[in-house]
Amino acid sequence: MRKQIAAANWKMNLTLEQGEQLLDGILSKPHSLKADQQAVFAVPFPYLLMAQQKLAGKQNVFVAAQNCYSKKNGAYTGEVSVEMLQSIGITYVVLGHSERREYFQESNRLLADKVNICIDYSITPIFCCGEPLEIREANTQNEYVAKQLEESLYHLSAEQLQKIVIAYEPIWAIGTGKTASSAQAQEMHAFIRTQLAGKYGAAIADTISILYGGSVKAANAVDIFSQADVDGGLVGGASLIVDEFVAIINALK
Ligand code: 13P
Repeated sequence: MRKQIAAANWKMNLTLEQGEQLLDGILSKPHSLKADQQAVFAVPFPYLLMAQQKLAGKQNVFVAAQNCYSKKNGAYTGEVSVEMLQSIGITYVVLGHSERREYFQESNRLLADKVNICIDYSITPIFCCGEPLEIREANTQNEYVAKQLEESLYHLSAEQLQKIVIAYEPIWAIGTGKTASSAQAQEMHAFIRTQLAGKYGAAIADTISILYGGSVKAANAVDIFSQADVDGGLVGGASLIVDEFVAIINALK
């Protein structure tokens, strides 16, 4: 059974106090994480330790960084290494979010290096892929996503690939309130799994969790997560609201 994951991406939002209140609020509500389900909180770097401390000892709940650098250490002012993240107990890193690709020119090639260093340090990348609106309108989203997977992941061995979580986030659905329909999400997730199966075999592809991201909220999470190849969500705006995110956690199948 694949892991089902509800991942919060706070992006560049909240003060420390607001972040603490949000986590306290979520933790105070009843939620039902089964053995194969996880909640993950991708918080800004300055809040990683705070979040680690609040979630310490909680079952199936993890903290993620939103990015890391591709080098081990050295003169890279302002960057954060996976060694640093590992040293404070972080086990997940979001990589290749479309905002990082767009505003910070992160390429498939750079992301391949980031994936490698995460795996070297036993940190699970939540590898983001997904097409912009013009690609969807031209109906070439499959080719676009296939290239992202090929250039950033296909150098991995089967064993390494199984350490990755994939998040499909169509850019036209991020922060727009315009969710992909559950059928559109399922179609792309099935395509991604077929691509992985073509490269690594169906048994391996079946073990990879593929999350959907893009305007997931309490009102649509059950529908989206119920799709056969959707293994949870990567959630922006709705993850900043206690009741919304608790409902999204509880919508995992
Ligand atoms: P929204 O849920 O705000 O659309 O953001 C999605 C996202 O980018 C999560 O990484």
